[in-house]
Amino acid sequence: MAAAIKTRSIEAFGGGERGQAGAAPERTEIAIRGVGHTYRPARGRPVKALETISLEVKEREFVALLGPSGCGKSTLLYLIGGFLPVEEGKILIDGQPVAGPGPDRGIVFQHFALFPWKTVLKNVVYGLEKKGVAREERVRRAREFIDLVGLSGFEDSYPSQLSGGMKQRAAIARTLAIDPAILLMDEPFGSLDAQTRSLMQSELLRIWQRSRKTVVFVTHDVQEAVYLAERIVVMSARPGRVKEILSVGLDRNDPGLLRSRPFAEMVDHVWSLVRSEAIRAERGGGT
Ligand SMILES: Nc1ncnc2c1ncn2[C@@H]1O[C@H](COP(=O)(O)OP(=O)(O)O)[C@@H](O)[C@H]1O
Ligand SMILES: [Mg+2]
Repeated sequence: MAAAIKTRSIEAFGGGERGQAGAAPERTEIAIRGVGHTYRPARGRPVKALETISLEVKEREFVALLGPSGCGKSTLLYLIGGFLPVEEGKILIDGQPVAGPGPDRGIVFQHFALFPWKTVLKNVVYGLEKKGVAREERVRRAREFIDLVGLSGFEDSYPSQLSGGMKQRAAIARTLAIDPAILLMDEPFGSLDAQTRSLMQSELLRIWQRSRKTVVFVTHDVQEAVYLAERIVVMSARPGRVKEILSVGLDRNDPGLLRSRPFAEMVDHVWSLVRSEAIRAERGGGT
């Protein structure tokens, strides 16, 4: 069974150099302007994955990208992360065009990208090493984040010895330890069982409320998007476009939120927007 996730708070985890809440929250951190993307595989036809995407994400905002499988959610995240070149349109981070990956953007992939030959501790330490954090501080910080995600006692385990949920938590610890200003998450809980998933969702919310990072969270799960995000960007079936942007405006500190009527109504509303796109995607997407 997966280890229980800690609910205690970590004082050191307060948003790093970006300071505490209270600073001007309205600055645009990610500006996506008219972005398209076409994959051109060596064999076969080109695939137009995204078309004219425009979106602004404010500093400290939690935005979900929601849409059916194949609508280009991962593609958009990889473009923001600098893992794919922006060939059509522009993506600016803090006013600067994306020119490859950087420590300001931490990414958590759908499939936990841990080094299988490194222990949990070494996996988390690795990112800090890359960032140039001093040796003792690296280990101290790594342990702190391993504890935060509830993996204390598993520091010396290898990924193959962990459950899916634990691997994903280790991957999240590794990304959080680097303290990136922007967190890019690609269906990070997609492969977890329902209970672990629900724990991880509330844990992520708690971490976000404390650290106030800018989060772009990709999901195809309507409930997850409504629960976690302040704004939801509903995407159309391929080629992905912005179909609608919704502000959620629910009180996520309300313990009864998930069973409340406003929550259910919001889920219904968002689902009605996504449903037609999911059907289109099932039938082979757009053009
Ligand atoms: N490397 C690639 N080569 C060709 N087509 C790709 C490649 N990666 C993704 N695609 C296609 O681009 C579309 C969008 O993919 P993706 O961004 O992974 O969608 P999502 O994350 O929303 O499921 C899909 O139709 C997918 O098949
Ligand atoms: Mg994807």
